[in-house]
Amino acid sequence: MSSLVQQHAPPASADRAPPGDAIANFGRVRGEGVDTTHGAILYLDEITVSFDGFKALNKLTMDISVGELRCIIGPNGAGKTTMMDVITGKTRPSSGTVFFGQTYDVTRMTEYETAHAGIGRKFQRPTVFEQHTVFENLELAMKMDKRVRPTLFFRLNGAQRDRIAEVLAQIRLSGEAHRLAGLLSHGQKQWLEIGMLLMQDPELLMLDEPIAGMSARERELTGELLMRICQNRSVIVIEHDMDFVKQIAHKVTVMHQGKILAEGSMETVQNDPKVIDVYLGH
Ligand SMILES: Nc1ncnc2c1ncn2[C@@H]1O[C@H](COP(=O)(O)OP(=O)(O)OP(=O)(O)O)[C@@H](O)[C@H]1O
Ligand SMILES: [Mg+2]
Repeated sequence: MSSLVQQHAPPASADRAPPGDAIANFGRVRGEGVDTTHGAILYLDEITVSFDGFKALNKLTMDISVGELRCIIGPNGAGKTTMMDVITGKTRPSSGTVFFGQTYDVTRMTEYETAHAGIGRKFQRPTVFEQHTVFENLELAMKMDKRVRPTLFFRLNGAQRDRIAEVLAQIRLSGEAHRLAGLLSHGQKQWLEIGMLLMQDPELLMLDEPIAGMSARERELTGELLMRICQNRSVIVIEHDMDFVKQIAHKVTVMHQGKILAEGSMETVQNDPKVIDVYLGH
């Protein structure tokens, strides 16, 4: 439980910050909320990340449209996870900018701030509260959303109950609402964690290898879930499973050595000799 609470905890400085909008300003450079009037939810411009001289990302430029479901593929070490680390503010690039909408420069924000601004990220291992029911997990996720209420002690109102019911239906766990999360299958735990992120209503949801360890049926249902989710938000999925990518992708980005090797429809990248050479041919 502690890791999830920590993940959502405000930065230490928040306690000392002056009241008003000082906390909420972070990397916001203009306007209120996420401005996507130009159609892009995310824009990476020449991002370089160096680890002791090794460039995990090498002038990576990429943009994601509003409502898009983008799949990122590429060999081990290509820089896929590092890219998500940069987008969430976990890793600072040595050069380049990342804009979330036209409003936020995320290279100036912390992980807490990017989550608060509307970027949700799911790590590979599910981190649900096993001793709590499925319903309680979603309730806890809602309580940890600072936009809802700044305290752990409040009663759910009707609208909030409806929201939990809606998310339960979306993640296909309505029938398991009062089961302990620890008793769910691995796939169901993954869906519950996606549901917990949905409770915070992110504009952009990012998932790193979400179907690892799932059964064939669970993989298929996860694909359907992601396709439903992107109807009102943008989604980025890193995945090695080509059948899954084929099922869900609008557009596929192939990364290699910290940059983009190819980008386009599944068919385009699958037939690209460069992609076959470094990735699909193995
Ligand atoms: N904190 C770090 N310190 C040093 N090197 C790192 C660090 N994080 C990542 N790297 C290196 O950067 C490169 C890119 O790693 P990254 O995890 O982004 O790859 P990936 O595309 O997600 O690979 P995989 O498919 O195996 O998950 C790798 O060579 C990795 O060893
Ligand atoms: Mg990775």
